[in-house]
Formats: sequence, C-alpha cells, structure tokens
Amino acid sequence: MPFFTQDLRNAIKSLEQYRARAISPHHERYSFPFFSGTYFSYRKIDVRRVVSIATAVNKSPSYLDVGCGYGDFLKRVRELLPGAEGMERDASIFYSLGIEKQDYIVISDAHWIDKRYDVIFVAWMEPGQDYRDPIAKSTDVIITTLDQGISLSAEFDGHGFDCVAHWRTPSWEDVNIEIMNKFYTKMSGDKRAELARMRGAHNLWYAYARPHVAVRVKNALQAQLAQEDPRDRYDFESVLDECGFGYLQKLENPAASEPLWQVNFD
Ligand SMILES: C[S@@+](CC[C@H](N)C(=O)[O-])C[C@H]1O[C@@H](n2cnc3c(N)ncnc32)[C@H](O)[C@@H]1O
Repeated sequence: MPFFTQDLRNAIKSLEQYRARAISPHHERYSFPFFSGTYFSYRKIDVRRVVSIATAVNKSPSYLDVGCGYGDFLKRVRELLPGAEGMERDASIFYSLGIEKQDYIVISDAHWIDKRYDVIFVAWMEPGQDYRDPIAKSTDVIITTLDQGISLSAEFDGHGFDCVAHWRTPSWEDVNIEIMNKFYTKMSGDKRAELARMRGAHNLWYAYARPHVAVRVKNALQAQLAQEDPRDRYDFESVLDECGFGYLQKLENPAASEPLWQVNFD
C-alpha cells in the first residue's frame, strides 16, 4: 500500500487542522500514527522488554527496526541501545514531514537486508506486504507486532522460529476510537460508558527465537518482568490510562480476554 505524495499532502493538511483543535498534544500520536507516533501503542515497559530480549543474545546487540517509519519507536530504543538502526523504504515520509532523516535510518527495501543482526524488530507489516523470508534469513531473534485482523503476515512459526512469548496492547485505532468518543464527540455519559465497554485492543506483540537461543530470550524476559515498573513511563502514556487501556487492565470485550500488557509464555 504505497503512499503517494498527494495522499501525504492531504493527510498533513488534516493533521494541521487537528492540531488547531486538539485538547492534548499527545492525542495526535494515536490519530495520526504515521506522522506522530506508531501504529502499535506502547509504553516504556515495552521498550524495556524489547531491549532485555536484545541484550539476552548479545551484551552489545546489533538491532534493526524494519519498516521503521520516521523512527518514533526506534528513537526510544536507541536511548538504551545507541547502536540500533532502522530501515525504511519510503523516503518521502521524511521529505513530506520536513523531518531530517537520521543517519541510523537507511532508505532501503527489507528484501535487500544484507547483513545479520542479533535482533530484528518488525512492526505492522502493511496488508499485502510480506518480507518474512529476508528477515528470517538475517537473524535468530525477531520481535514483531501485528494488528489482529489487518497485518496478519508477521508470524514466523513457519520459518524455523519458536514463539517464546506474546502480549497484547491496543493498536492506534483502538486508542483513537476512545479519544474521539471521550474528548471530541458530544454524547451522553451513558452512551459513552456503553461504547467504552466495547473497547478493543488489537495489537499483538510476539517474541520469536531460533530454538538454540529461545531459552535465553525467555529467561531474559522473565527477569525483566520481575523488575518491571509501570511508573517508569513516557508522558504520553497518560492518554492510554485515560482511555481505559491501563497496565494489566482487563477489557470487557471477549476478543481481548487477557489483561493488557500481560506477557504469556508459549
Ligand atoms: C504501517 S507502517 C508502520 C510504521 C512503524 N513500524 C509503526 O509501526 O508505526 C509500515 C512501514 O513499513 C514500510 N515498508 C513497507 N514495505 C517495506 C519494505 N519492503 N521495506 C522496508 N520498509 C517497508 C512503509 O513505508 C511504512 O513506513
């Protein structure tokens, strides 16, 4: 699903209109994830989980975020892993946003990955995209997020990897719906409460490892969870709390039965 320059221009115009009326500077990251956030919602604990997995395989791991967009999540990972790199196919993201492309992001196609990494992170492969083969060839550890029902082709079980653990967070759309209902739509409190009971959380995180490193990855993630502190957080996490997507919160929606952010080992 390539983006065309006119689409980007139109979307940026919408973002400017949104900004003029937004009641929180943090809302846009969930309403305009391509420009201001990520398609998957995350907390600092997710960054720490990812970093703990990376450092389980190498104290100073090589790390690649494939399809990193303008690098929102990658920037956070780099605070803890300064050598982390990104790969993004679409250079127009940077030109249209007027964002400087950092040297640690290379403009290239995932099919051309030409070296091995300790860990590859791949979030939200678009519908119709499938670059699992080149990713699987280039690493022993993969962390991926996918949107249940949309980006289904990010699973690596058939590529010689074991799924070590998974957890669920909301996707940008889940949070955006709540933001719109709660802050930007006039409706009765009862109606809002009724709609809130239907809230979903469709973003799934999977940690995959080749069998010979799977136990190391599992142990590292377990050790990280034992010291996890949700009070260690980014300022934008307040939106997740306000919209009913709390840490270990259970939703009423049967399609998301386990508590959010709870790690399940496979
Ligand atoms: C849905 S966006 C997700 C961006 C970011 N990872 C996130 O989750 O917010 C998918 C990104 O993958 C990039 N992409 C698509 N196909 C690619 C490919 N073959 N190689 C590298 N990047 C690709 C797109 O340009 C886009 O920025």
